[in-house]
Amino acid sequence: LNRHHGGVKIQPDRLLADIEALAAIGDTGDGGNCRLALTDEDAGGRELVVGWMRDLGLDVRVDRIGNVVATRAGAESTGAGNDAAPVMTGSHIDTVGTGGRYDGTLGVLAGLEVVRALDDAGIRTRRPVAVAFFTDEEGSRFAPDMLGSLVYAGGMPLEDALDIVAIDGAVLGTELERIGWTGDAAVPGPAPHAYVELHIEQGPVLEEAGVTIGAVTGVQGISWQELTLTGQANHAGTTPMRLRRDPAYVAAQTIGFVRRLATDLGGHQVGTVGRLDLHPDLVNVVAARATLTVDLRNTDEAVLAEAERRLRGHVAALASAEGCEGAWRRLARFQPVAFDPAVIDLVESTAERLGHSVMRLPSGAGHDAQMLARVCPTGMVFVPSRAGVSHNPAEFTEPEHLAAGTEVLAEVLTELAGVVE
Ligand code: GLV
Ligand code: MN
Ligand code: MN
Repeated sequence: LNRHHGGVKIQPDRLLADIEALAAIGDTGDGGNCRLALTDEDAGGRELVVGWMRDLGLDVRVDRIGNVVATRAGAESTGAGNDAAPVMTGSHIDTVGTGGRYDGTLGVLAGLEVVRALDDAGIRTRRPVAVAFFTDEEGSRFAPDMLGSLVYAGGMPLEDALDIVAIDGAVLGTELERIGWTGDAAVPGPAPHAYVELHIEQGPVLEEAGVTIGAVTGVQGISWQELTLTGQANHAGTTPMRLRRDPAYVAAQTIGFVRRLATDLGGHQVGTVGRLDLHPDLVNVVAARATLTVDLRNTDEAVLAEAERRLRGHVAALASAEGCEGAWRRLARFQPVAFDPAVIDLVESTAERLGHSVMRLPSGAGHDAQMLARVCPTGMVFVPSRAGVSHNPAEFTEPEHLAAGTEVLAEVLTELAGVVE
């Protein structure tokens, strides 16, 4: 098993240069990026990265939902239809509206660096090695998150995905056509032999522990819901408090309840109201309508389901006490996912073999890997995030940690793909 002891030499400077170049597209001027899914900025990022894939001589395929898979042939490839299933890596290049430059892009660009390193070393793998980026991982423009990988893995019919309406009113299929990224490869896509994704941790655990590599054990369950509260618009000066039907007030109480719910349930439970819209949103008008989102997550499915039940029950009581109507819309619901024990072991032992400190941890963020886990043995490699900050322009990972994660990824992919001696 020690055949490839550090045999794939990655060059961190090339990776850093690629991260820098991609970050120039949708640059928000504060160190961060805005490449919301299927915007012109997303298209710009796609063109740049696919250009690099073609420069590397990879076989680039775009599927019907705009996922891109670039494949380096393996020795066992025998031609159309007969190829061994690839070992796949990848992630996403879309960002939230106030994103950093590492979330997602690291996994894709590190995959390309692994390909370059394999080429440099003249290594032929038995299985092909594929580097993918999936459409709309973030889900902040078009919910749910991990949409492209969900469709790839057969978890949502293509037609349903193409009909999704964005927070700005755009329709997904129309936007995909508009930016020119509707491909002809079929979805669901072919199951890889295995999938391993490198990603920044986006939380504080590795940094606090002083550990370089995370061997990710799985991803917590995710529940996204949108709540629309309807009351009665009225004059802020003349309407007595007892006669108000104020959805803004119910929204505020809901925000307080979400915080208490998470702390009361304890453990891994988290809860967030990330969006709040008031209508008509004017200083002297009691609001007619409040729309907010609730993001609940837990590693334990039963507790997550309990959190959802309590939330709905409590909000129903709050709304009725204020004479408001509440309507829920589900935006995303994914159960917790456990990664493949053999892949977790391989990530851990590879990090140790390369001399990096390593620990096991679950992921707090959603990832394309959790969708691929439905169709093949899957795992992830995490590297630390400074101060645990992510979905923020200040997102940062030390270059030496980016390099360490890419090294581990290179060895793990090579081991899984097998080397022709
Ligand atoms: C998406 O990546 C999320 O975790 O919100
Ligand atoms: Mn991500
Ligand atoms: Mn993200």
